Amino acid sequence: MAAKQKKKTVFVCQSCGYESAKWVGNCPSCHEWNSLVEETVKAEIKTASPSAAISARLKQGDRKKPLPISSIEGSDENRISSGFSELDRVLGGGVVKGSMVLVGGDPGIGKSTLLLQLCRSLSLSGHEILYVSGEESLKQIKMRASRLGEFGDSLKILSETDLDEISEVIDGYKPEFVVIDSIQTMFNESVGAAPGSVSQIRETTAVLLRIAKDLGISIFIIGHVTKEGAVAGPRVLEHMVDTVLYFEGDTKGAYRILRSVKNRFGSTDEIGVFEMDEEGLKEVLNPSEFMLSGRPENAGGSVVSCCMEGTRPLLIEIQALVCETAFGFPRRQASGTDINKVNLLMAVLEKRLNMKLSSLDAYVNIAGGIRVNEPALDLAIVLAIASSYKNRPVGQNVAAFGEVGLSGEVRSVTQTLQRVNEAARLGFEKIFIPYASLKNVNAPDNIKIIGVKNVGELLGQ
Ligand code: TYD
Ligand code: MG
Repeated sequence: MAAKQKKKTVFVCQSCGYESAKWVGNCPSCHEWNSLVEETVKAEIKTASPSAAISARLKQGDRKKPLPISSIEGSDENRISSGFSELDRVLGGGVVKGSMVLVGGDPGIGKSTLLLQLCRSLSLSGHEILYVSGEESLKQIKMRASRLGEFGDSLKILSETDLDEISEVIDGYKPEFVVIDSIQTMFNESVGAAPGSVSQIRETTAVLLRIAKDLGISIFIIGHVTKEGAVAGPRVLEHMVDTVLYFEGDTKGAYRILRSVKNRFGSTDEIGVFEMDEEGLKEVLNPSEFMLSGRPENAGGSVVSCCMEGTRPLLIEIQALVCETAFGFPRRQASGTDINKVNLLMAVLEKRLNMKLSSLDAYVNIAGGIRVNEPALDLAIVLAIASSYKNRPVGQNVAAFGEVGLSGEVRSVTQTLQRVNEAARLGFEKIFIPYASLKNVNAPDNIKIIGVKNVGELLGQ
């Protein structure tokens, strides 16, 4: 007897993807309020028991054989340069054929511009590309493109949001690269939910993923992020794609940082730095120099440190301001780094060096709009706070890095040599490093490397 087909719906949290049979006001998984939306479930194809399905297949002789790894033909990853060395590095050395890359970021940060520039560069070297926009009309895309320069004719533009149409165009045209701008505007008719909902995003991405793998097309998808900083329709999407890049920065400032947070074909935590001007994005090939530009001269509370962004050392300026509080309760604020770390380091200074910080306001800032949470910054944060407290500059050509423990000891960090070399390259003459790391460095002639055992020894001087 054929059962009467009933449309089945579930309530899906738009923030984390949690599914519930009933509506609830507060998502039990991510605790977001009022985030559950009713969505239609695609009819599931029911089979008999799994074992019955397997035995039926075996009878037909349809067996998949596991293979020894040595007999599998491994093609060398087929990488194509994007034409931007900053983007190539973040991708792990270029765009991998058949891979799927998600580019996330706040609205207005420059995702469409970045990918249009990528299309421009690929089209100039003759690659076939399809740019699908669900956000802008052809005219609007043309207006943006005319600011970016000449394009090759192998770039085709499509303004469409229906996934069936898009799949057909891709199948007919068979480009090497496809850009989808943005995944939140695309819809698949068979999914009974609004564009941008979790089910739509998941289904659309799944279809695109199949296209990428079957036809060997590299697909870039753009995703807007929510206020919490996750790509909307979120983790479900992140684990489906091969690479996740985030485009960060202050939309009002000129600088943008492209960061890789997941990469099946390269290392993560690599960053690429770009500058937005009236002709689109330009690469910043010397980011340390840009991070330190505009540094005040011989100011108290300003110390340069060196962090590692993926494989690359990056010099950054740490600023601290310690001042008398106007309230009964002192304010502590950190931007660009972890406030708990700042509180901990201030407690170390208070206890080990008798600095009376508990009644003072303290603000710590990493200049340049970058976020770093590396322990190697501890020594510079401590120095910056002490320098502001004593109102004594540490000197213009001084850099410091090392982890600070609770007894005030300075512990070694990784890649000492790269950090020292980067500081030396930019003209720093006196570098404080952990004492235990001294054996790893061969100081260049004109540079004084000082090994520090604990902060008391350094600040007592
Ligand atoms: P856009 O790429 O549209 O952002 P997203 O796709 O991430 O939403 O970038 C839009 C911003 O970039 C907009 O504020 C204008 C600015 N912009 C420039 O400053 N110069 C340029 O050449 C272009 C194309 C955009
Ligand atoms: Mg856009």
